Amino acid sequence: MLPTIDWEDGEVLMIDQRKLPSREVYVRCRTAKDVAKAIRTMVIRGAPAIGVAAAMGLALQMQRSGATGTTQLATEFYRTCDLLAATRPTAVNLFWAIERMKRVFAEALRAGQSTNELKATISAESARIHDEDVANCRALGLHGAAVVPTEARVLTHCNAGALATGGYGSALGVVRAAVEAGKRVSVYADETRPFFQGARLTAWELVREGIDTTVIADGMAGSLMRAGRVDLVVVGADRIAANGDVANKIGTYTVAVLAREHEVPFYVAAPVSTIDLSTSDGTGIPIEERDEKEITHLGSTQLTATGAAVWNPAFDVTPASFVAGIITERGICRAPFSESLKEVCAVVGPTSDGGRV
Ligand code: MRU
Repeated sequence: MLPTIDWEDGEVLMIDQRKLPSREVYVRCRTAKDVAKAIRTMVIRGAPAIGVAAAMGLALQMQRSGATGTTQLATEFYRTCDLLAATRPTAVNLFWAIERMKRVFAEALRAGQSTNELKATISAESARIHDEDVANCRALGLHGAAVVPTEARVLTHCNAGALATGGYGSALGVVRAAVEAGKRVSVYADETRPFFQGARLTAWELVREGIDTTVIADGMAGSLMRAGRVDLVVVGADRIAANGDVANKIGTYTVAVLAREHEVPFYVAAPVSTIDLSTSDGTGIPIEERDEKEITHLGSTQLTATGAAVWNPAFDVTPASFVAGIITERGICRAPFSESLKEVCAVVGPTSDGGRV
């Protein structure tokens, strides 16, 4: 399993995803502030992974707290929730994890737990969120493997792998499960401008597992599909609205349109924690806009002409009508998504929070 995020000596350790694949270095977080910075600056990224990181950030802050009473601890806890929630706006898993931690904290407080007991409760819940995320990815991988042909060329966008989750991956979880089931799978990884999650992270993950991987520039996906060289598209998601509209890495919508034109099935793989029933459709999903330097520069080298304006949205929304199925740990949702997503969220599945999102 890839070491995306873990505990070491009472600190949160993350592989620095900005440095991969050329360097495997780790960032040590000693406070929730460090965790918030790591999320904001993309040391750790990917919707489920930042949810796990936020939960661990809360546990870290509680463990380190010198609060002398439960009221003081609660003030610190809720302030830390706000800090972590302000890091990135699009991936709903971040808010889902924080809300879940808040629920558990409030229940424990009502039950009269002491400061030490509250700290232990929060620690245990963050560990559960991490463990469940890995288990959910494995479960959704098994469901997804069923739609992968015995010999398949899969195109994916961005990185929805072990690095983007607690471990194993969502879209790449489907690939991994299909390979484990004995299917012959090769992967086309869109390089994913401007942050290159596909070229750097997806390719790194797959190559180290011996899965046949070809990196293409984003603009090449259409030619590849037209040449009949893609059997299936599988991508992850940052937030899925109640009607099945899917926010994912910028460029996903382009891939979905191309897939429809070339009659290639377009699947989304995501844990139930990515489904946001409180947002009715994609127009309500906040889209993060990032620093223009991500477009204008490659490292310290300027690529674009000085004076040219830049637009850098980190995500786009693919309308539900382009999606063949949404693969979750509780099964595959099909159209009409407004019904199937509601059903999958209501099921008491492998997650211990009773399926609430
Ligand atoms: O900006 P990022 O790298 O956090 O964006 C990540 C993505 O868009 C992923 O595809 C998505 O979070 C799914 S991860 C399982």
